Amino acid sequence: MFLKTQINIKLYYLLNCFAITISKSAVAPPAWADPKLNPCATQPRGWQLLYWPPDGQCYKIYQIGYPCPEGMELTPTAISSNSSLKHIMAECKCPPKTAEYPDDNRCYKLFTNGPCGKGQYFAPDKNIELAKHNRRWGKCKSLDNCQNSNELFWPQDNKCYLYLSQGPCPKGQLLTIGPDDISTCKCNHKREMRKYWSNGNGCYEHFTKGPCKENGHLFLPNQSCGCHSLLPHYYNETRMCYEIGTIGPCNAGEQFLLDYNKKSATCQCKKGHIRYEKDLNCYRPYTQGPCNHGYILINKTTCIEQPCKKGYLYFPINKSCYRIGSRGPCKKNHIVSFDFRTRPSIDGISYNGVCGCSQLGDNHECLERKETICNSNNNMVLFNNQCFKIYSQSPCPSGAWLVIQRQSKASDFLPHEGVCECMPGYKETILNNSEKEEIKCNGPTVALAEFLNRQSRTVSNFQI
Ligand SMILES: *[C@@H]1O[C@H](CO)[C@@H](O)[C@H](O)[C@H]1NC(C)=O
Ligand SMILES: *[C@@H]1O[C@H](CO)[C@@H](O)[C@H](O)[C@H]1NC(C)=O
Ligand SMILES: *[C@@H]1O[C@H](CO)[C@@H](O)[C@H](O)[C@H]1NC(C)=O
Ligand SMILES: *[C@@H]1O[C@H](CO)[C@@H](O)[C@H](O)[C@H]1NC(C)=O
Ligand SMILES: *[C@@H]1O[C@H](CO)[C@@H](O)[C@H](O)[C@H]1NC(C)=O
Ligand SMILES: *[C@@H]1O[C@H](CO)[C@@H](O)[C@H](O)[C@H]1NC(C)=O
Repeated sequence: MFLKTQINIKLYYLLNCFAITISKSAVAPPAWADPKLNPCATQPRGWQLLYWPPDGQCYKIYQIGYPCPEGMELTPTAISSNSSLKHIMAECKCPPKTAEYPDDNRCYKLFTNGPCGKGQYFAPDKNIELAKHNRRWGKCKSLDNCQNSNELFWPQDNKCYLYLSQGPCPKGQLLTIGPDDISTCKCNHKREMRKYWSNGNGCYEHFTKGPCKENGHLFLPNQSCGCHSLLPHYYNETRMCYEIGTIGPCNAGEQFLLDYNKKSATCQCKKGHIRYEKDLNCYRPYTQGPCNHGYILINKTTCIEQPCKKGYLYFPINKSCYRIGSRGPCKKNHIVSFDFRTRPSIDGISYNGVCGCSQLGDNHECLERKETICNSNNNMVLFNNQCFKIYSQSPCPSGAWLVIQRQSKASDFLPHEGVCECMPGYKETILNNSEKEEIKCNGPTVALAEFLNRQSRTVSNFQI
């Protein structure tokens, strides 16, 4: 059952990957079912079979081992030429969560020691992956050291987490050092896990809700669930204990946090939230919060009328509104975007604009983005990262209008870009001031006058 679901999920992804190429030629059934693409499709249950060119036989998709080398699985590959899909054939690849090591062409589990030396782990290698089609390749990388000696490095996300905290682990497991000094998630009643063991109900950090079923109880260092008035987790009014950093007994927008003066936890505004006057709740600034309809909260004392029109966001530093997706006041390769720390269902709609990366590159750098969403069905084109109606004059100098820039076939899927071009009857001159070329379009009368001027000059030259 599990295997079948997994296959279906994989098929789904693959079909989606091919969808672009397929949809161009025809409204096609799944690529598998087409005998022209998959020679095995004519056999019973052919959609589960892949053609293996070395012996001309059909083999079941995703089977591990023969005809593939040991440990590899049979996966489909698209053979295309001139951007149209030609065949779907089989290729041997490493199964999920593993990758191929170029030195011996075998599959090893990622994020384990694998074929690597001491102090190293087997990591995905994005560079080779690009060079050699879609196969997953791996390489050995050194384990990073964490700044805090109490933390462990977790290679999957390149982050450090506290030793014996839940960190990146599933509920009931804690982070510890595994074989070959690579961190791992586990739970047992031996050695370092002993004190966190909840009698077969998982391992948990102390003073968390952990395995405790009763409201107001926490998992205590004596490995039982309970609450005590001397604990900083104790809340006087309800006489219960709550995990620090959760909402606990507090109101919306608040968090149960330690107050170092009182040596116990109290209800405080969550980070990035403010309390309006003496309101019980805390709010994200630049949402409606406690204000009247059409107003937003800007600080502890003031609601202002919502300053931006639809599609625009507010930048408090500039006290101005900028269009979503435009560069606005942001630096290069950044665009005006929503403040994603605000969750509309909980905090309400935020009018706070932030500068977001226009597109994230492989190395988490910001790339230029060109795909501001322009509805091309509505005859909209992209100009300076904003959408305009085609043949409109608005973004262009006088005498010019916006036309579609001729594009290469490859950019069919990109939104159309617009350029300013002189309207018919207007004559183009290119001004060359301050390193930037600008076009100027002269109206028929100006053009005519210029023409006549030139004529009269030549005429007078002849007369001399
Ligand atoms: C692919 O394109 C090239 C040039 O663009 C052309 O010479 C060739 O015949 C095309 N092949 C197919 C199979 O269409
Ligand atoms: C565990 O500790 C709590 C608080 O100190 C105490 O109330 C409780 O009785 C202890 N439970 C056991 C089983 O020792
Ligand atoms: C806890 O509550 C009791 C009565 O409700 C009160 O007398 C006591 O001062 C409170 N303690 C703290 C620390 O607020
Ligand atoms: C809140 O904003 C208003 C308007 O900008 C300002 O007059 C007021 O001093 C601010 N209050 C605080 C507490 O910052
Ligand atoms: C907006 O504010 C930022 C930060 O102070 C500043 O760098 C930028 O020049 C301002 N932009 C405009 C258009 O005022
Ligand atoms: C514009 O000016 C630059 C230098 O100022 C020059 O190199 C370039 O050739 C000029 N272009 C035209 C079209 O005159």
